[in-house]
Amino acid sequence: TLPCDIYASGGTPCVAAHSTTRALYGSYSGSLYQVRRSSDNTTRDIGVLSAGGVANAATQDAFCAGTTCLITVIYDQSGRNNRLTQAPPGGFSGPAAGGYDNLAVATAAPIMVGGQKAYGVFVAPGTGYRNNATSGVARGDQPEGMYAIFDGTHYNGGCCFDYGNAETNSRDNGNGTMEAIYFGNIKVWGYGSGNGPWIMADLENGLFSGVNQRYNANDPTVTHRFLTAVVKGEPNHWAIRGGNAQSGGLSTFYNGVRPNVAGYNPMKKEGAIILGIGGDNSIGAAGTFYEGVMTSGYPSDATENAVQANINAAGYATTSGGGSGTLTPGSTISLRATTACCTDRYIRHQNDNAITSVITSSSSSTDKGDASWTVRQGLASSSCVSFESRNYPGDYLRHSNYQLHRQANDGSTLFAADATFCPQGGMNGQGTSFASYNFPTRFLRHYANTVYIASNGGSNTFDATGSWADDVSWVVGPAWS
Ligand code: AHR
Repeated sequence: TLPCDIYASGGTPCVAAHSTTRALYGSYSGSLYQVRRSSDNTTRDIGVLSAGGVANAATQDAFCAGTTCLITVIYDQSGRNNRLTQAPPGGFSGPAAGGYDNLAVATAAPIMVGGQKAYGVFVAPGTGYRNNATSGVARGDQPEGMYAIFDGTHYNGGCCFDYGNAETNSRDNGNGTMEAIYFGNIKVWGYGSGNGPWIMADLENGLFSGVNQRYNANDPTVTHRFLTAVVKGEPNHWAIRGGNAQSGGLSTFYNGVRPNVAGYNPMKKEGAIILGIGGDNSIGAAGTFYEGVMTSGYPSDATENAVQANINAAGYATTSGGGSGTLTPGSTISLRATTACCTDRYIRHQNDNAITSVITSSSSSTDKGDASWTVRQGLASSSCVSFESRNYPGDYLRHSNYQLHRQANDGSTLFAADATFCPQGGMNGQGTSFASYNFPTRFLRHYANTVYIASNGGSNTFDATGSWADDVSWVVGPAWS
């Protein structure tokens, strides 16, 4: 029995069930999500390996080979068709055409579930999904529950990485018009103990960590790589719970009356569903989503504990990202081009720019040092990596105006994001490709011997589609000695 079977037997059935990684009902054998590839704009539904099983990631890998894919639809397994699609503009506009939000890159969050490869939904700021015309989701002060599994190491201080109930017009309709799970470390509204991130409830015009508007000591900083986050609400009563999706139970971080702030009792829920954004389509947030559901009725703690036991059993685990070569933090490596022109060229810095140069065992020690990089845990996310210069410690490979440079880490959030790259299998089938953390449709690419973050087609010369898959594929090898 899977999460939605457990909620159903607890009397609080799922009214929405979203996952790109696995079925959430034992009998579910339909599609989990849909991807669209950039090469010809066609789409493909991604299903499960068997009824009640894990996603068929091989279908995606075959369909998206050598190109980039975006997640266009996250289907609703509940049978109510509460699917999530590209979020429309609202109080704020997104960066895509027509003010819509961006779609997530389908390969940006690779993981394992029960020993099988699967992909999560990687939300870079600007990415968002929504459904403003749902069926069966709580309205007004009706009771509901929800949980989601996030990457507890991928978050930021922007508004607002949410999953749950929001306004049907994508605007801020006042206190109490939302009830969603929030995850991140923004402190504009509420916060808990430590430095964050925290699980909070986005109830509109406020992220609540407990009964108080600002600080609630009982809501802890939580950073499990796979994090189960729970929010539920019923008349003048709500709760926040959380735990490690890989093992152990759920803890209760709040369980009590509605906040002691006007406007949240009774609630005025509207029943839209959002993912990765605020209720008013605020698009400042980052995070990764693997699965989540919304229920009708207020689930018991016992029901949620049984769901958490099933989540533990599902076997969420990390992968190296699918690329070959070792990207162990602390090791020093080289990055060799795989394009036929250039298989003797390596990423190196020169005059503070990142370029490719032919490097051989008889190159000077300066050239060898310039072409050697120490792998660090990603400055913006420990699920990704950063590259520190071997001969200029403290300096990193970072992009600026889409071009790569060697620069000293100034400690800013922007620098960290610009210097973080998320590895995945090489786009041409060789080695590894590196997605930019903050521009995940762009990958480290050499073009005219200069290094950029490039998309597969676009307005810049370095976004050219010709040899793109080769140019973004790198062999991670030993450092030059
Ligand atoms: O409640 C926090 C945020 O405030 C909501 O997500 C958004 O709609 C508003 O800007």
